[in-house]
Amino acid sequence: MLIKITRKSQPKASEITPHEVYLKRREFIRAGAGALAAGLLPGAAGAALGPDFGDLPDSRYNTDEKLTSYENVTTYNNFYELGTGKDDPHKNADSLVAEPWSIEVSGECAKPGVYSVEDFVKPHKLEDRIYRLRCVEAWSMVIPWVGFEVGEVVKRCEPNSHAKYVAFKTILDPENLPGQRRRVLDWPYKEGLRLDEAMNPLAIFAVGLYGKALPNQNGAPLRLVVPWKYGFKSIKSVVSMEFTRDEPPTAWGRQAPGEYGFYSNVNPEVNHPRWSQRRERRIGEFRKRKTLMFNGYEEEVAHLYAGMDLKKNF
Ligand code: MTE
Repeated sequence: MLIKITRKSQPKASEITPHEVYLKRREFIRAGAGALAAGLLPGAAGAALGPDFGDLPDSRYNTDEKLTSYENVTTYNNFYELGTGKDDPHKNADSLVAEPWSIEVSGECAKPGVYSVEDFVKPHKLEDRIYRLRCVEAWSMVIPWVGFEVGEVVKRCEPNSHAKYVAFKTILDPENLPGQRRRVLDWPYKEGLRLDEAMNPLAIFAVGLYGKALPNQNGAPLRLVVPWKYGFKSIKSVVSMEFTRDEPPTAWGRQAPGEYGFYSNVNPEVNHPRWSQRRERRIGEFRKRKTLMFNGYEEEVAHLYAGMDLKKNF
């Protein structure tokens, strides 16, 4: 999956979304606010941990490329917990019990604890948080995500000076998730970012797409989107976030260490051992297109890897 975010001409949700969908999204947003008012939130998560995030960042990342259709985004998926076929996640979507949901924050930080999704969502004015990003795997899509920066959440967790990485895990629920009853991967699904990567404003937590709450097959209720990396870094249905001193293990790194490195930056110059990564198929297009370095986000992220050999650190 490749992804792209734009910000110069931040579109209003109502411009890209059918009206009834737009209204549903507002219901979703209100539901989050309602949970807050009902006192479900452990205290001062928002106020004490960060500034008021109400002001919209400038829309410099959004792409104006043609969006992949809602139909394609929600029926052609990778989510092995729901099956390994591309249409399995859509077919088995109901097996994921996405509420109630909590996220455990642990490790090298001053604010460990168990937070509700609303704790994560609440400080952000979602109406304004639309990120139109390219996402790349062997195929690519352009998706209008609704979300907020991972870095904003990280700041509120107050990582200490030992924190060098952030490790994420997906829900482990083999009773309900058919894919987890087979040892296709070492469950639960795990991913990680270096702390400075997580702080880059292009790394987002998505809670919706096309103005609607995130469908289960896309990683409800909250998933990572890291648009300059191959799609498997964008871990779905996140239940934990741990600040670590050492590079954390990842699901695909454990499965096939020679094939999937920790960084997994989109890089047309470094082939996967079994296939070229020079070209990608944009869903909805016939001809393959050239894959761009860092999925076209070079200006935003290349500095994170200055001086690193990206052939070794693939
Ligand atoms: N997260 C979990 N928990 N399980 C998975 O199997 N697949 C990854 C990633 N996140 C996966 C996951 C892969 S390989 C891709 S390409 C993207 O999710 C696909 O996201 P999408 O289906 O929303 O396009």
